[in-house]
Amino acid sequence: MKKSTIEEIKERFDNDVERFSNLETGQVATIDATISLELITEASKRIVPNAATILDVGCGAGNYTVKMLSKLPDLNCTLVDLSLPMLDRAFERVSKETNGKVEIKQGDIREIDLEENSFDIILAGAVLHHLRDDNDWETTFTKLFKLLKPGGCLMISDLITQDTELLNEYTWQRYGEYLEGIGGAEYRQKVLDYIEKEDSPRSMNYQLDLMKKVGFSKVEILHKNMCFGAFGGIK
Ligand SMILES: C[S@@+](CC[C@H](N)C(=O)[O-])C[C@H]1O[C@@H](n2cnc3c(N)ncnc32)[C@H](O)[C@@H]1O
Repeated sequence: MKKSTIEEIKERFDNDVERFSNLETGQVATIDATISLELITEASKRIVPNAATILDVGCGAGNYTVKMLSKLPDLNCTLVDLSLPMLDRAFERVSKETNGKVEIKQGDIREIDLEENSFDIILAGAVLHHLRDDNDWETTFTKLFKLLKPGGCLMISDLITQDTELLNEYTWQRYGEYLEGIGGAEYRQKVLDYIEKEDSPRSMNYQLDLMKKVGFSKVEILHKNMCFGAFGGIK
């Protein structure tokens, strides 16, 4: 199947601002979304307790930064997303939570211009699965590594695959059953169809290996449940 273009992804999210504006219900189809968000923000706070700057990649309506600000107030926040309606909502919500500066930048994370060595924390929530081939993944991880200050961390919470096809099939079957449990057979099909069309996730091992390859001094697994995981690296 031909995967969605960036323009198609942008359009879909332009029309989904409400769903992503609520910390509790933001990602119903994401297994353990709440615990993963708690773990990556708590880990970030512990790794960089004096953080001054955060970059939220694919920020959507700002859920991850809002959560981070509940633990580390008054960060200067840079919010990046393809979708302007998402960014407008994120700006509004994040501005209420910080006395720091809030900057929004519309664009593709692969192309957008940001200052190297300038972020203490980078959060990437449910976004990197939109990256496509190996080259795309490596250039993006390299870029995120360069944007971090030394000692800073990149924390990811995302859809993931397994490296062994048999286990991959098993995982997706279980995820299908999970979806059917919350929304019935039609909902299961709808979610699995848009993942097929829009997403190209990679395994946690793949991403951790790549992080080490591009220079992260440490990588950490925080959580994994079926095809969702929370993990990260320290520069
Ligand atoms: C599933 S939403 C998650 C939003 C938010 N991180 C959250 O967890 O609530 C993914 C977001 O990433 C954005 N996005 C997808 N691909 C992107 C890219 N290449 N560059 C920047 N943003 C992207 C979409 O527009 C969308 O708002």
